[in-house]
Amino acid sequence: MQSLLAGNWKMFKTVREAELFARGLVAELDIPPDREVVVAPAFPALCTVAAVLRGSAIKLAAQNVHDQAQGAFTGEVSAGMLIDAGCEYVIVGHSERRALFGETDALISRKLSAALARGLKPIFCVGETLAARERGATLTVITGQIKEGLKNIDLGDIGNIAIAYEPVWAIGTGKTATPEQAQEVHAFIRNALQDAYGKELAGELRILYGGSVNSGNIANLMSEKDINGALVGGASLDAGSFSEIVKYKEV
Ligand code: 13P
Repeated sequence: MQSLLAGNWKMFKTVREAELFARGLVAELDIPPDREVVVAPAFPALCTVAAVLRGSAIKLAAQNVHDQAQGAFTGEVSAGMLIDAGCEYVIVGHSERRALFGETDALISRKLSAALARGLKPIFCVGETLAARERGATLTVITGQIKEGLKNIDLGDIGNIAIAYEPVWAIGTGKTATPEQAQEVHAFIRNALQDAYGKELAGELRILYGGSVNSGNIANLMSEKDINGALVGGASLDAGSFSEIVKYKEV
């Protein structure tokens, strides 16, 4: 299995900044063969970054997608448009979209279906809030998000999904989950997937960790059995730290 290292640029970088940054990555980033690298710029920079990445090993993701193929949905972008712009991946159900833009499990499920129907590979995000963790509800929350999100997905499409476990309390806070805390949830997710889809398919699905990942903690996180990659926010905005993350050495 190739590990997946994805940089979520969130609402940062102008088109020009994104272009220069992507050029730097293409020129400098040495990607080990057992890894796949993805960057997710904001919508306006997608086409420009796609042109820079063409012919390189770095792949393009969008940060969001609408659940309909087209129509009168002012401000929205469809899966077909993202494919057209050069995306291979799309982040779906990020906690910021759940918390700040009211995305429900039902909407996220429709977005996953829409992406898969057009051949976009979703990075499907799940994660508990601090309040949920403190009341001991982490695994219940994760179970609900996964069950609801995947309930209408055809078995044949499941293999195109990567799941990202991003505890909300660890995002942008500098408080990363310990490798043991992350592994516990990753193993739980893997077991749930195994119950639903069988051992073989569940064993092939990549489960990424996200939440204050940086060059100092990536190696320990990636050394855990069920952590198959990382979804990186802040540290992916800096070429040096993203490059260090991509080149992690398992301990
Ligand atoms: P940070 O790495 O900045 O904590 O963000 C994580 C994240 O939300 C990636 O999608």
